[in-house]
Amino acid sequence: MIIAIDGPAASGKGTLAKRLAEHFALPHLDTGLLYRAVGRVALDRGLELDDADATAEIAELLDVAELDETRLRGREMGEAASIVAAHPKVRKALLDLQRRFAHQRGGAVLDGRDIGTVIAPGAEVKIFVTAAPEIRARRRHLELEKRGDAPPYEEVLADIRKRDARDAGRTDAPLKPAPDAHVLDTTALDVESAFAAALLLANRHKD
Ligand code: CDP
Repeated sequence: MIIAIDGPAASGKGTLAKRLAEHFALPHLDTGLLYRAVGRVALDRGLELDDADATAEIAELLDVAELDETRLRGREMGEAASIVAAHPKVRKALLDLQRRFAHQRGGAVLDGRDIGTVIAPGAEVKIFVTAAPEIRARRRHLELEKRGDAPPYEEVLADIRKRDARDAGRTDAPLKPAPDAHVLDTTALDVESAFAAALLLANRHKD
């Protein structure tokens, strides 16, 4: 069973994907980390994030085993990831790796922006997780506060709106629900209720 979880920034898709993967004992790939890592390496090397060729080269040589999640979760990395993720060459360089992960024997859970539309259009379960921007900004703000890296709430909200617009507006693999995805609006749901709703959808497929 392939479970594809997509959605905008701070919608709760990562937490949901992790919980589903644990529940079904499936391997999980947070595909956002791949784009964050490409952005991180580019910045470390002093390269321009707008440079499609240079960032695609980084993507081609990316070693997934070396992803250091704590370093990639910082506020500026989401923005950097979204800039490099708009380059078709970067997306192409990361495609096979993600498809192989999705189609491994036994199944997998992947979360990102284009799992249900591009990476695994045949996924048995597709969930598009969303929530009002103000709620997502509040969640992200709390998360950043825990890291000791929180700007004012208004700035987090502005970041989120900007990233939504860039991710949804790009021509290659824009953020949008697959036609057969279940849209899960978590504006009024806590983690447990969102998990329960997703579990219902996944089990419906299994039965
Ligand atoms: O956790 P959050 O939703 O803030 O970010 P993320 O899932 O780590 O993704 C960071 C950025 O990577 C997004 O804003 C997208 O531009 C890009 N991304 C993408 O284009 N395709 C994916 N499958 C996953 C992430």
